[in-house]
Amino acid sequence: MTRKLAPGNLIAATHNSGKVKELKALFEPLGFQVRSAIELDLAEPEETEKTFTGNAALKALAAARTTGEPALSDDSGLEVFALDGQPGIYSARWAGEPRSFENAMKKVQTALVEKNADDYSARFVCALAIGWPDGHTEIFEGEVRGHLEFPARGDKGFGYDPIFVAEGETITFGEMDPDRKHAMSHRADAFVKLKAALEI
Ligand code: IMP
Repeated sequence: MTRKLAPGNLIAATHNSGKVKELKALFEPLGFQVRSAIELDLAEPEETEKTFTGNAALKALAAARTTGEPALSDDSGLEVFALDGQPGIYSARWAGEPRSFENAMKKVQTALVEKNADDYSARFVCALAIGWPDGHTEIFEGEVRGHLEFPARGDKGFGYDPIFVAEGETITFGEMDPDRKHAMSHRADAFVKLKAALEI
């Protein structure tokens, strides 16, 4: 049976400040007090799973066990169909260390050009997981479909936003008002499912 989640303390189990901002915007209006892994200086677990849902569960459980509070995590990424779903779960890793999404976006473009691809369709995927200190998890997956455009445009959002144009739109997520992105994103889609199942 799905475990319910009562408003209260919630740890955002991520070190990505863009995600922290988006997760706080989703959960704080519902009465949750959200503190992030950055604020709490939590260790970042290695993402050893092969799926978004597996990595989301792993991150939420690590933070829940360390803090003794329920934790929320997000594992997400960009899947490009002509690249057989890459960069996928490796979306952050394509940006290298220190992270450069300018480089990661160029890598995507180069891979498409090298493949002679004429189909630039892509989707963002997001798995949201809630983990409890006793090891229980609830996981929800969402997506937003669209296509890629180069060169990158816009300085809003984060990650691959400046090259992604959602279905029915003409501007990139990087150019879009954040509220509008939040209403249609892969994170919003997963969040709607989470909210319904956990009755929050
Ligand atoms: P991870 O889930 O921490 O492994 O990283 C996911 C990566 O996917 C992020 O660092 C971004 O590069 C990318 N990503 C996930 N969601 C978004 C989004 O909403 N916009 C742009 N890029 C995203």
